[in-house]
Amino acid sequence: MSTDDGITGASELPRVLVTRQIPKPGLTALHGGAEYTVLAGRWPPSREQLLYAVEPGFWGILSTLTEPIDAEVMDACPGLRVVSNMAVGYDNIDVEAATKRRILVTNTPGVLTETTADFAWTLLMAAARCLPAASRYLREGQWRTWEPEALLGQDIAGATIGIIGMGRIGAAMAQRARGFGMKVLYYDPVPRLEVAREVGAYYRDLPDLLRDADFVSVHVPLTPQTRGLFGAEQFALMKPTAVFVNTSRGPVVDQRALSDALRDKVIFAAGLDVFETEPLPLDDPLLTLDNVVLTPHIASASVATRNRMATLAADNLLTVARGQRPQHLVNPAAWGKDLF
Ligand code: GLV
Repeated sequence: MSTDDGITGASELPRVLVTRQIPKPGLTALHGGAEYTVLAGRWPPSREQLLYAVEPGFWGILSTLTEPIDAEVMDACPGLRVVSNMAVGYDNIDVEAATKRRILVTNTPGVLTETTADFAWTLLMAAARCLPAASRYLREGQWRTWEPEALLGQDIAGATIGIIGMGRIGAAMAQRARGFGMKVLYYDPVPRLEVAREVGAYYRDLPDLLRDADFVSVHVPLTPQTRGLFGAEQFALMKPTAVFVNTSRGPVVDQRALSDALRDKVIFAAGLDVFETEPLPLDDPLLTLDNVVLTPHIASASVATRNRMATLAADNLLTVARGQRPQHLVNPAAWGKDLF
């Protein structure tokens, strides 16, 4: 029996813990292939709730990026074989601990690429054209007349964009930039020659890119190498007219340094969907600034994309349940036919 109210019954199917309510197509995809238990409620489980819920009988966990899945969680589930994250990022999972235990970790790349790039572009345009300040100006009754010199932003068409991370989403950003007649530079710690050639992007090392770019958009995963990649030193290299966009992970950026750079007009504006701490605390200095567009980690949040992510997360689990290697395996070292 499969339920979405926390009740489960006996069956031969592999038991899966779904840590949050996810879009229905994801649960529908699990029907018949797994016996699943969904932790009820709109909010993510607390650490205590999660540890209470995981039981030795679970074979799989379908998680979202809000749940840290670490060694303690894994050890509470000795039969655990797969953690399927409904996200492209998987920094919430201790992949090393999983690999040591031969637990497969999967993610959902590809299905959110265009939606995420669309949203990064939305932030880029909104920040460049002073949307928060313009909206406040109108709502607060400051709009008396058309003004030749009020709310002046930065041009996008024909400008230079620097893309940090030329993976799928970075490449989708480059394609959008080409449509705006922009020059596209990129920096990536991993060589991306082929995809860069395809999208017409030129490699620069990070300092050179930051000096040359009018827009900088970040699309790297959070890893020990990318944590803190942007700090005061990097913002100081950027143009005072530059716009910074982050839809990747908050800790890639030293947020205090970014607030200071925005406050002191070291850079012109920013568009941020991700933060060091989520939700963004309401006393964060970023909230006092008009030259930053702030959104609550929604870059992949379209109806169709979230449905696709949920379905793919379910499919990743079911592929393993059939004894096959999942397409989006994050830790190939854990894979082996002897798992079954
Ligand atoms: C969202 O941030 C994701 O990693 O899918």
